Amino acid sequence: MNSPLSNTFQIDVTTAKESYPIYIGRGYESAVASEIADLLENGSKVAVVTDASVRVALSPFFDAALSNVPILETPAGETSKGIEQYGRVLDFFAANGLDRGGVAIAVGGGVVGDLAGFAAASWLRGIRFIQIPTTLLSMVDSSVGGKTGINIDAGKNLVGAFHQPMAVYADLDSLSSLPTREFAAGMAEVIKYGMLGDLELFEWLEERPLLDWKDDRLPAVVRRNCQTKADVVNADEKELSQSGGRALLNLGHTFGHAIENVAGYGEYLHGEAISVGFVAAAKLSQSYGYLDDAAVERVIAVLSAHGLPVRLRTPLSIERLFAAMQKDKKVRAGALRFVVMESIGSAITKDDVSLDRVERIWRDLGGID
Ligand SMILES: NC(=O)c1ccc[n+]([C@@H]2O[C@H](COP(=O)([O-])OP(=O)(O)OC[C@H]3O[C@@H](n4cnc5c(N)ncnc54)[C@H](O)[C@@H]3O)[C@@H](O)[C@H]2O)c1
Repeated sequence: MNSPLSNTFQIDVTTAKESYPIYIGRGYESAVASEIADLLENGSKVAVVTDASVRVALSPFFDAALSNVPILETPAGETSKGIEQYGRVLDFFAANGLDRGGVAIAVGGGVVGDLAGFAAASWLRGIRFIQIPTTLLSMVDSSVGGKTGINIDAGKNLVGAFHQPMAVYADLDSLSSLPTREFAAGMAEVIKYGMLGDLELFEWLEERPLLDWKDDRLPAVVRRNCQTKADVVNADEKELSQSGGRALLNLGHTFGHAIENVAGYGEYLHGEAISVGFVAAAKLSQSYGYLDDAAVERVIAVLSAHGLPVRLRTPLSIERLFAAMQKDKKVRAGALRFVVMESIGSAITKDDVSLDRVERIWRDLGGID
């Protein structure tokens, strides 16, 4: 559907309790400024959370759209998604008098979105919030679906809440300052949607890799991804389906999280770790006879063409990878559950995957004793 904003796609995400728009386009300064003006006029207090790098990289956007509201900057990076910065955000809401009618605005990547979203979910038991995602990953993935949360020492995303935003503004021009490596990491999630449910998208990405923010196909690609995610979320908001459902979005993630964990956070960007995880998932699918050699090669080729790793960069201990997988909260009741592809473009969940089978895959990708 085209939205009232010019040059924009609008997707409506509908969950059991609410519905909200995702706007996807370019040049959203005035749209955001006018939404904020409306909120202020109606007496709502508004507070913005961003990170220090985003504030610098997108200073013209802040000047044009957010000049008359308080802004809190957190340090850039995953470590900000923890208790300390969470406390700072709550103190910031308190200092700015956000009441039940207040609105928090997250401007940044998935870290800022998850952190500010969780603060909004828990402040006064939940206030409204708006997502302005500024990385490709956050546009196609983390800003859609309402999962918010922070990390604690015991693991990533262990504390959180489902809290849907009131609107999402994905302004593709904001990607102009995003480092190439971060853009590629976001493409990993895009490729994921192709592999799990959108063969046509996968084929586009094979034919002409999408390598930068100016690409004229980008709005349509982001829109397609958000639509796929919105459809999955609409059907299974809280990931309760016994099979399939929202869990399909975890394709490659059990492998990827283990890589991030064992290599040390920061060694691989999330998108890079799950890229290796996709190859693992493809090989797992092959081991069940779903994919043939040629299909696995296609997966590897498309990831490589988008500048993503397809095997471990340095060898990692298989024992430690297994230990990390067992800790992953996506592993239900001790059994290893994975998402596999029946064919490229169609994914299913697979329970009771044996450790031997997984071990062979780790070895194949560079795991060692
Ligand atoms: N809630 C969900 O459903 C969900 C889904 C997937 C991932 N996530 C979470 O998202 C996080 C990763 O998100 P991310 O990859 O966006 O990381 P991020 O938020 O750390 O951003 C990556 C880096 O890019 C910088 N940056 C952001 N926008 C920029 C811009 N426009 N120009 C220049 N620099 C910019 C940031 O300062 C940061 O250094 C992880 O914590 C992950 O757990 C959440």
